Amino acid sequence: MCGIIGLCFNKTEELGKLLYKGLQRLEYRGYDSAGIAVLNSGRLFVVKGKGMLRDLEERLKFTEYTGSTGIGHTRWATHGAPSDINAHPHVDCKGFFAVVHNGIIENFDELKKWLINRGHIFASETDSEVIVHLIEEYYRELGDVYEAFKRAIRSLKGAFAILMITPLEENKVFFAKKDSPLIIGLREDYKVLASDIPAILDHTCSVIVLRDYWVGYVTPSRVHIEDLASGKPIDYSTYIRLIEWSIEEASKGGYPHFMIKEIYEQPLALINTITGLRSSREFPLVVKMLVDARRVYVTGAGTSYHAAEFYAIASNTLTGLLTIPFIASEYEAYVNAVRDGDILIAISQSGETMDVLKAVRMFKERGARVVAVSNVVESAIPRESHISLYTRAGPEIGVAATKTFLAQTLLLSWLLVELAEYTGAISSSEHRELVKSLEESPRLVEVSLERSEKTAYELSEVYAEKKSMYYLSRHIGLPIAKEGALKIKEIAYIHAEAYPAGESKHGPIALVESAFPVVFIVPKLVWLEHSTKGNIEEMKARGAKTLGIVCDESPVVSLLDHVITVPCPHWLLTPISHTPPLQLLAYYTAIRKGLDPDRPRNLAKTVTVE
Ligand code: AGP
Repeated sequence: MCGIIGLCFNKTEELGKLLYKGLQRLEYRGYDSAGIAVLNSGRLFVVKGKGMLRDLEERLKFTEYTGSTGIGHTRWATHGAPSDINAHPHVDCKGFFAVVHNGIIENFDELKKWLINRGHIFASETDSEVIVHLIEEYYRELGDVYEAFKRAIRSLKGAFAILMITPLEENKVFFAKKDSPLIIGLREDYKVLASDIPAILDHTCSVIVLRDYWVGYVTPSRVHIEDLASGKPIDYSTYIRLIEWSIEEASKGGYPHFMIKEIYEQPLALINTITGLRSSREFPLVVKMLVDARRVYVTGAGTSYHAAEFYAIASNTLTGLLTIPFIASEYEAYVNAVRDGDILIAISQSGETMDVLKAVRMFKERGARVVAVSNVVESAIPRESHISLYTRAGPEIGVAATKTFLAQTLLLSWLLVELAEYTGAISSSEHRELVKSLEESPRLVEVSLERSEKTAYELSEVYAEKKSMYYLSRHIGLPIAKEGALKIKEIAYIHAEAYPAGESKHGPIALVESAFPVVFIVPKLVWLEHSTKGNIEEMKARGAKTLGIVCDESPVVSLLDHVITVPCPHWLLTPISHTPPLQLLAYYTAIRKGLDPDRPRNLAKTVTVE
């Protein structure tokens, strides 16, 4: 997820300052590099670099640029490491066009090859750079900027919000939108375009939220929008909205906290992760590495460890390939068994967790090859791994991991489905069915959230009074139970323990007394639903109040005091169907207790110390 901004004046001394301020408003969308391009008296100036915005201002003096028209970009790398040359804006071979882009171009490989064959020279490793060379190529053919722009956009597959400027038409910003957000801010004397509302509100509260496949351009006094496919102009007057949010509310998309915003961003996080996987050259290589491995280990810390444990249980069950999970800080208990030919899958959304980095280094020393799974391109753990797979959840600002966890489990599930088909563990029809379910996972999250909101909110009133809780499950549900317990611990400060439901009678049940809250996570496994029945009855017999996160038509519904039912296309998607209710439960319980879920006490978003 990146941030883009465009401004179109007749002339102003403030252009660089206004672009910089807009990028500051958008920085939470991505902050590994940034840049601007401005037009001044027929000349195009581009300045960009790797680093935090304020450091770049020191080095590049964005605010000193003047001119009539400008675009800017804050980057969250998806293709190509954070670097000066990979930062946006990107320019064509002759420096006639400058483009900023938010999204993922799925077919950039083939487009890049085609353009290189036609003589184009690429400077960066990014997917976005193909856009500006396409415009150059079609302008060479058509001689018309706007027609060339539209033909370039028609060539793209994937998600994009694009802004383009050129000295060939100085007082215009060209735009196109599909899947990634883009908004136009309306003023009489100039226009502003941005990825989302915070960067607009400094200028106006009158906006047009662009729809997919809308393209066009703005001048200081005019807006032209048309439908890309039909070419029909859009009468945008009916789409003008007035925004009443404060800037603070707007950077949270109107949500009160980043955590709840990111919980509701999960469908988009999965859409973008799927898009990224489809164009990942590393993905099939990792499948082959796992097939050839002598032994597979998987590790992470906190929530990422829960994703690791999910992967291990799912691998053992779906593929029959034994996978050994361990908590990263416990690597000493495993490393002596490591030999050449072993694979370590190291999961870390930040890519900076020191416990995981230490495990990676020690396993490499013993001859293991390392596969990183991260949300931050070229962060420390991917850099020290042999190969990396990336989630595309965008920056996660809330300390509690939410959308990055679902994106991790989606990526890991996809890996296992390909592994299972490659090894013949599942049939082609099962493979097709599973891939279809994974492709539909964004909708599954939406339904799970819809079904959870009311009960989670109501039950949070009860749980806010509690000191201790159990989260119980079995098999693939156990890592999800652990994730649910961690969430309510870290943001609502309630001691919650997750453990195998079958373990209850071996001691833990001694703690259960009247109204003791027990949350059951019940995945779609027939034997599991049957065996969990007994556990629910055991708990209820001792006065526990039970909540079940269960599948539609689950046989345990009648035994539970409270129930949230979710669709269950396959047990492999349990993290995606069963985690959102637990996230909402933790979030609302924290709110009930008057706590700030974005900044829980004693915690940091990334733990870069041992
Ligand atoms: C989870 O909500 C916490 N923020 C924490 O446990 C986190 O998952 C852990 O520190 C690992 O972080 P990473 O994924 O960036 O490595």
